[in-house]
Amino acid sequence: MKVAVIGATGMVGEVLLKVLAERNFPLTELLLVASERSVGKKMNFQGKEHIVISLADALAAKPSIAIFSAGGDTSLKWAPKFAEAGTTVVDNSSAWRMDPTKKLVVPEINAHELTINDKIIANPNCSTIQLVMALYPLHKKYKMKRVIVSTYQSVSGTGVKAVKQLENEIAGVQGEMAYPYPIGRNALPHCDVFMENGYTKEEMKLAREPQKILDDRTFSISATAVRIPTAGGHSESVNVEFENDFELNEVRQLLNEMPGVTVQDNPDTNTYPMPIYAHDKDEVFVGRIRRDETQRNTLNMWIVADNLRKGAATNAVQISEYLVEKGLV
Ligand code: A2P
Repeated sequence: MKVAVIGATGMVGEVLLKVLAERNFPLTELLLVASERSVGKKMNFQGKEHIVISLADALAAKPSIAIFSAGGDTSLKWAPKFAEAGTTVVDNSSAWRMDPTKKLVVPEINAHELTINDKIIANPNCSTIQLVMALYPLHKKYKMKRVIVSTYQSVSGTGVKAVKQLENEIAGVQGEMAYPYPIGRNALPHCDVFMENGYTKEEMKLAREPQKILDDRTFSISATAVRIPTAGGHSESVNVEFENDFELNEVRQLLNEMPGVTVQDNPDTNTYPMPIYAHDKDEVFVGRIRRDETQRNTLNMWIVADNLRKGAATNAVQISEYLVEKGLV
């Protein structure tokens, strides 16, 4: 399988290479692609030196799969060219997610919808992926009516510049700012840009993407997305109202049975998910599972995952694995 990683020098790109190697993805050739400023740069993959190439050279090489993690503009411009040339694109940006002609895929939930005709496949937003992984088994059983989610998102979700801003602030060094305010010792209720309705783009992604992934518009989601000074790993406080009542033990069991989800929930031993423990793991961790005592059929929980892994790289590699396994590329 000839695979191109577009944005190989970026934060998600780096994790993509790690995940491809760890999972022994069946590669015959790996093309590492970045912007013109990185072309010619040497990178190491599984002990072998690779030279970073341009998008045009990668396109000419006709890879079977191209995993894009180089921002929305690059995806908008180049994904259709690769698709036209016969490459299947797995796109990490938000460029194609809500396009009705493109599928938005979390493999554990809806990979079965993919066909050989899907040439641009969208990877959901990082906060969406960990949210739907926990909601899906519960929705199937109890039917969701309304979800209220507040996120506590790490700076790695913004990119290298934001990680550097936090490091500089901790070290007391002046440097370039990724955010309009300091992020150390702070919480910014501002992820991605503001929209006309007063919500941020991140909040609207959280509201809309799960409906598309679950192919169900009968439930609604209201989101508040907050950036906090954690280096990696997003957390979410989630309140879900269901149509039907539930038993807490059954909720824990359904979550544990969901592939890719692990329950960490024991107040007696202070066991609950945290970003430092989710770091570098592929699972979505769920804890603080409890009944909302103020409303019927309503559950509270806390969801944590490594945003660069299941929230981005791992999900994209799992989609690619599915394509190979099912002979769709
Ligand atoms: P480069 O390192 O050459 O800038 P991050 O999200 O961590 O900032 O990473 C973005 C990734 O996308 C990097 O690998 C970056 O390459 C790549 N990239 C950014 N703009 C382009 C572009 N116009 N064409 C190809 N790759 C791009």
